[in-house]
This record gives sequence, C-alpha cells and structure tokens, in this order.
Amino acid sequence: MTTATAFPPVWLRDNCPCERCRDPRNGQKLFGITDLPADLTVRDTSTVADAVTVTFGPDGHQGVFSRAWLDAQTSRSAGDGRTETAKQLWRAADFDGGLPVAEWDAYLADDGERSRVLRAVRDLGFAVLHGTPTEEETVLAIARTFGFPRETNYGTLFDVRVEPNPSNLAFTGMRIAPHTDNPYRDPVPTLQLLHCLTNAAEGGDSGLLDGFAAAALLREEDEAAFRILTTTLVPFAWSDATTSLRADRPLIDVDAEGHVREVRFNNRSMQALRLPPDATTAFYTAYRRFAEIIARPELLLTFRLDPGDCVVFDNTRLLHARTAFAESGARHLQGCYADLDALTSTLRILEESA
Ligand code: OGA
Ligand code: ZN
Ligand code: ZN
Repeated sequence: MTTATAFPPVWLRDNCPCERCRDPRNGQKLFGITDLPADLTVRDTSTVADAVTVTFGPDGHQGVFSRAWLDAQTSRSAGDGRTETAKQLWRAADFDGGLPVAEWDAYLADDGERSRVLRAVRDLGFAVLHGTPTEEETVLAIARTFGFPRETNYGTLFDVRVEPNPSNLAFTGMRIAPHTDNPYRDPVPTLQLLHCLTNAAEGGDSGLLDGFAAAALLREEDEAAFRILTTTLVPFAWSDATTSLRADRPLIDVDAEGHVREVRFNNRSMQALRLPPDATTAFYTAYRRFAEIIARPELLLTFRLDPGDCVVFDNTRLLHARTAFAESGARHLQGCYADLDALTSTLRILEESA
C-alpha cells in the first residue's frame, strides 16, 4: 500500500485532482509550476477506503486522491511505446510460421481483428491486409481506417510504377535496397502504406527488415560505431523545381535514456557530410558496419505483394526493399504516408472498449 507521503509534496500538488487544480470537464491542469508555493509541504493525510485526503502547507489546500491511482504511480512508466524497449524485435525466420496478416473484410467487420492488425504494426512494425479492393485510391481508405493520410509534395498518395522519365529510382524496374522513406522530411512520416494494384512482372518481390534489430546488433558488435551513428547528424535532402526539403538527423536516433527510437537509412537522399576528416572517416567506417548488418540475408523478410494486398509499416523502424523486375511486365503500387500517433490512439480506444 502506498501512503501519500511516499511522494514529494510538489509532485502530489502538481497532480492534485481537485477542481481548482483541474478543469473537471476535460481534466486539464489550470495552473503552471510557478503558480505553486515553492515551499510546499504535506501537512496531513487521511485515508478512508480508496480516498486519500491530502492537506498541503503552507496554504492549507486540500485534494482527494484515489489510493489505487497513487499505487499505480509507483512503478516505472512503460513510456509512450515508441522505443526498442516496447517492441518485439525480429529477424526473417521469426515469420516462418506466417506473416501478421488479416483479410480486409474481417478487419473491417471485427474490432478484435482490427486490434490484432494495429498491434502488429505497433509491436512488430508491420502487418499485411489481404483482399482489399484493387481500385485506385484504396490505399487512402485503408489509412483512414486507423488514422489520416499525410499529404506531402508528392500528393495524398503516390504511384509506384515504371515511368518513362523517372524522378526516382522507385519508378524504374531496378532493385531498391532496404531503406526508410523520406528521411529529408521533418517530421519524417512515421507510417507508410504500399497497396498493390497489379504485380504481373517477373520479380518485384517486397522486403522488410527490422532496423531496431539491426541497430541492436550494431550496438552488441561494435559499440563505438553505434555511438557514432547516434551522435552524427546526417544531412538528407530532396528537391525538384517546386520543392526543397532538408533534415539533419542521425542514422540511429536514441531517446534521452539511450534507447533506439528511430532509424533512418537512405543512401539515395543522403548528402555530403561536412565534418573534420577524422570524424568523417570514423562515420563512414561505422556507416559501413551498419550497412553490412543490414545486408545480412537472415534479417531480410521477403514476400510478394499480390493485387489487393496492402502492407502497412513503421517507417521510423522498418526498412523496406524490392527486388528488380522486368520493365516489360505490369507492376503498379499506390503508396501513402500516415502517422503512428493516430494508429496507436485508435488501438488504445479499441482496447479500452473491448
Ligand atoms: C518506394 C518503394 C517499393 C516497391 O516507392 O518508396 O520503396 O515495392 N517502393 O516498389
Ligand atoms: Zn487541488
Ligand atoms: Zn521506399
């Protein structure tokens, strides 16, 4: 059992649930830290059943806390779930028994099925929907089942097919090595969807790779290289006649506690680093180590998208790839970006109402 006195007075007061402290209509706090006395004390506490009444000094302010709520605050928070500590890291063989997939009709009809898919995206970084309509713009409808398409200079969606004058290697039949999309955007799109309309070409298989697992391997095998990639700002850029995007971010982004939170990997849009020669050489050595890990075949999950399949993945964690395909064959995907905050919000609401 927790007694209120286990908490510092300023913490208790900052979390006081009384209606002078929080608007009862929305739970939002009505004061700022400097509105509180600097010399707060707890003058008295009394507990009746679940209600813990706290009287503060020096002003005699009173608040009634739930004891169950106080008890729940004593264990360390699991955080927002965005870092490696909350994820199930994987390599390709972990899916020998099958990918996280769902049928579109069941996904739409059944909240449990929808939760299962969204949980897979959150925890594994991806899920595949089968049997979606093979009509154009379906990718936007899919994104809207859990969130909001993110409009960019590419539009609300982008077509991935062979183009006569390609503005991007994606619009050729060439192999695309594992990468994350749009590292030159700030904020980077946290989710990507790729929806297959046609895939009749020889080749053109899809690949996914867990960038958090790759980063963890680098840390295990070469901690100095890991540290360099978490602390070197890498310039990424993309431009055409009407757009000029730039973001400087590390390849491996860690949070304030050192846990991996985002991975960026895209040689196509990486720009010239401007560092002293020794730092440049050290960066390239570390970058190569990371790229060698990413190239390990056991990490790369390969599968084929058939018409009506849509893969939804965490673009801050997973790298995606495709094999080369014959440009004479028909292959057409539509993609869009969306964001994880809305997806995890939808999942939380589904879980709360289950
Ligand atoms: C892309 C991409 C993969 C594919 O367009 O960003 O990586 O399967 N495409 O064509
Ligand atoms: Zn209060
Ligand atoms: Zn891509």
